[in-house]
Amino acid sequence: MSAQAKTRRMTVPEIIARKGGAPLACLTAYDTPMARLLDESCDLILVGDSVGMVVHGLPTTVGVTLEMMILHGKAVMRGAEKALVVVDMPFGSYEESPSTAFRNAARVMAETGCQAVKLESGPYAADTIRYLVERGIPVMGHVGLRPQAMNVVGGFKVQGRDEAQRQEIMTSAKAAADAGAFAIVIEGVAEDLAVAVTKAVACPTIGIGAAAACDGQILVTQDMLGMFDWTPKFVKVYAEIRTVIGEAATAYADDVKARRFPASEHTYHVSKPS
Ligand code: KIV
Repeated sequence: MSAQAKTRRMTVPEIIARKGGAPLACLTAYDTPMARLLDESCDLILVGDSVGMVVHGLPTTVGVTLEMMILHGKAVMRGAEKALVVVDMPFGSYEESPSTAFRNAARVMAETGCQAVKLESGPYAADTIRYLVERGIPVMGHVGLRPQAMNVVGGFKVQGRDEAQRQEIMTSAKAAADAGAFAIVIEGVAEDLAVAVTKAVACPTIGIGAAAACDGQILVTQDMLGMFDWTPKFVKVYAEIRTVIGEAATAYADDVKARRFPASEHTYHVSKPS
């Protein structure tokens, strides 16, 4: 046996056990170095389909493919040893039928080695969640603002503005929980609705722009690192990475233009052939 202590990874039952307990800290990651950096602090790392917008410069998440999610899921799994890793099912990969969803989710699980998948769960998704969970695939739901539905609702809009929407969000969350979702993301809804959903479902809720009273919180990591010139209002920015990178790039370019490097830098020292 190896002398090195093996790091133990967070499990789905341990996430479920945190309902009403110590809040779950969750962030997104799309690559190995970021996953390594977040792993110590996070209970759960989500390989979000936000990768399409954050990394690939797409205008929405609708163009994200299964292949992209698998590629980024593999990269995150190389960096995360402790956190539970969840990979998003992209638009078009799970809505058609439970069996199509199973085939695609099984690929994601087998090829990345992740521990669970997430799907945006409108009222229609409960049958699919049950089908996957019964066949060994842990599922995280996602209600409220569902970015993959932005073409139906007309943009990235706060949801639950009227009674009909509130009812739909509550129904979707309860249906996802009853179908076996181990946790549910609640995105972009009024605080009182997020609190009501959190009380109504047996599994942990993970808020994003929702309520501090959810069982956990998630943010897009690059948003909270201050990577972009625009950040959603609800995001607390913990670092100013955009400024740090911009200043470092300028300082580097200035050094290059001034040839301001000691001879030992930017040079491989290879002995001359005799
Ligand atoms: O894709 C994503 O990053 C997400 C989170 C914002 C919850 O779904």
